[in-house]
Amino acid sequence: MNSKVVSTQPIEGQMPGTSGLRKKTRVFMQPGYLENFVQATFNAIGGASGKTFVVGGDGRYFNATAIQTILKMATANGAEKVIVGQDGLLSTPAASHLIRMNKTDGGLILSASHNPGGIENDFGVKFNTANGGPAPESITNAIFAETRSILEYSIAATDDVDIHTIGSFSIGEMTVEVVDPVADYQALMASLFDFDKIRELFANGFTMRFDAMHAITGPYANAILANSLGAPKGTVTNGVPKEDFANGHPDPNPVWAKELMDLMMNDNGPDFGAASDGDGDRNMIVGRNIYVTPSDSLAVLVANAHLAPAYADGLSGVARSMPTSGASDRVADKLGIASFETPTGWKFFGNLLDAGKVTICGEESAGTGSDHVREKDGLWAVLLWLNILAERKQSMTEILTDHWKTYGRNYYSRHDYEAIPTDIADTLMSGLIEKLPDLVGQEFSGLKVSAADEFSYIDPVDGSVSHNQGIRIFFESGGRAVFRLSGTGTEGATLRVYLEQYVPTEADHSQETQQALTQVKQAAQQISELASHLGRTEPDVMT
Ligand code: G1P
Ligand code: ZN
Repeated sequence: MNSKVVSTQPIEGQMPGTSGLRKKTRVFMQPGYLENFVQATFNAIGGASGKTFVVGGDGRYFNATAIQTILKMATANGAEKVIVGQDGLLSTPAASHLIRMNKTDGGLILSASHNPGGIENDFGVKFNTANGGPAPESITNAIFAETRSILEYSIAATDDVDIHTIGSFSIGEMTVEVVDPVADYQALMASLFDFDKIRELFANGFTMRFDAMHAITGPYANAILANSLGAPKGTVTNGVPKEDFANGHPDPNPVWAKELMDLMMNDNGPDFGAASDGDGDRNMIVGRNIYVTPSDSLAVLVANAHLAPAYADGLSGVARSMPTSGASDRVADKLGIASFETPTGWKFFGNLLDAGKVTICGEESAGTGSDHVREKDGLWAVLLWLNILAERKQSMTEILTDHWKTYGRNYYSRHDYEAIPTDIADTLMSGLIEKLPDLVGQEFSGLKVSAADEFSYIDPVDGSVSHNQGIRIFFESGGRAVFRLSGTGTEGATLRVYLEQYVPTEADHSQETQQALTQVKQAAQQISELASHLGRTEPDVMT
């Protein structure tokens, strides 16, 4: 086999964000763009020689082409073996599991998660380390440094590999093992949950709708929910992965999963509804006439996890990202287990999980997961909910109402202001930072500030420090507003304003969420002078 060393030049802007390198698909398709980033990744980890990797993606446009490039580069860089999902497909949690199960040196996951796909939309590449989790900042910084000095990459001059047929193939000295993308993941799920109990639930007439949003979880949900657990026909919808997600936005929230929401907000709707995102790591949970915020879902899962076999002995601890509501902290307190507050992004949970300090983690952005892999896991969350429902034999409304009576309710919503010119977003944030020292004691829209800071995190395992992780403003009323800029957007800046209001156990838990947050929203807008910076007060998306 012939390998070529191709001369190249550094390309601007290849800094991995919250979750890998995400760009417009056409940017990735430019000659050398993907190649530079992949070579920089290999260089940053001390070369690929003799190493084993997992490669797969969510099936979006350019997935299969990118995989061929990566395979040719892996062999030219001396890799020993690459495990690939059939047709190039692997959900992010399934990829994480394969990395761990096969003890590989890491993996490359091709996805832009919940961002739309297609030639006019987004693509992404993320490197995961041998623990199965997203590379920590030390590695992503090293990759970025390599992209700034790269002068050549190696690639094999060879035909494409057949990734449609399960089996082992050779490309030069390297083995390519094409595996069923679902089988190992399904076996893992069966080892965590009481599948018999869930089968019994469905057999007794329980109804569910799972919206795969034309993305990667279709094949997984069909195999597990329909074929193995006996969920009735029609349970899984939009179950065939499409390169452009049927022109949809595969982000499981009430805005983008509207079809599911409409079905569920109805007295005749199914008992339980769920959706997952482009690459299968996010989840949305909804009951008949009741939407469950991801922050509440995390709290309920933590409170009830012991009902599933894998967690029957209890949890070691729980972690949530800083913008996520404090609902899970209250459960952890009651259970007497540790709770951690980390910066946004799953990579910050890795050390805590590896060290056994936490068993379950979650983010307000519809991510929940446990120590079974090192990524958030949409179907895992759905199956844990099903296991709990099968044990408690109560409706979603009963479970939620009971939860709020026990712990109080954290009303919560995220408001996104999208495609803001970067300089305006930066001015708004720096204006806030300047004000921080004087905020405590001041009143805004009738709410008195009790504390305000810019969030920094010291990793309790390796001591690494992450600064500038968002601005937190706490109010005496039990409210909180958080401001941060998205690290996954591909157009301008996205300002995220996270609003929260805690009400105690004996209070009214039946308010409409946005209503319950009105005061915090007004205070947040006043403090940040949002209207004068953005020229508007209403967000593009509220979740
Ligand atoms: C968003 C979410 C964050 C999540 C990430 C990857 O990042 O807010 O919780 O980990 O996507 O799915 P952001 O765009 O806010 O940086
Ligand atoms: Zn995702």
